[in-house]
Amino acid sequence: MAELTLDLRAADKAEAYTQLQQHVESVLAGVTDPIAAMATMSCLVHHAFGHLWTGFYRVVEPGRLLRVGPYQGTLGCLEITFGRGVCGVAAKERRTVVVEDVHAFPGHITCDARSRSEIVVPVVDAAGQLIAVFDVDSEHPGAFADEDREGLERLIGWFARG
Ligand code: SME
Repeated sequence: MAELTLDLRAADKAEAYTQLQQHVESVLAGVTDPIAAMATMSCLVHHAFGHLWTGFYRVVEPGRLLRVGPYQGTLGCLEITFGRGVCGVAAKERRTVVVEDVHAFPGHITCDARSRSEIVVPVVDAAGQLIAVFDVDSEHPGAFADEDREGLERLIGWFARG
């Protein structure tokens, strides 16, 4: 594969997510292994936007416990209980959580003190089971808006297509 990780930092966000979607889909064509997909998405999203931390926490005990999966960035904490931190809330409530200011989020788990804003998207498989959450952290406050939620939810839709 010639390419590469796209650098989309200068691109319009909607256009950036369209390009990223196409790139991820083409790299993952024929792939069915969810861990390979998690590693690929972590890499491509992380480098496309220059985020601080990008990766997955996998459901290892349904309704109770998340454990770190493929990611890019500095050391992430290993386990998160459902309901705890941004990841735990997204997992428990099965909804995307956007946090403009992590210092204002009760129970936010600090893995890297530089983190200022965060988005966490639930990952559901083709059977409708929650298998993970996708967590992206930025060192910029308010880095994530509706376009990011839409773009990342579309990307994560890969796991539900089976
Ligand atoms: N901040 C997250 C924890 C995971 S990391 O930042 C890598 C949270 O509050 O769920």
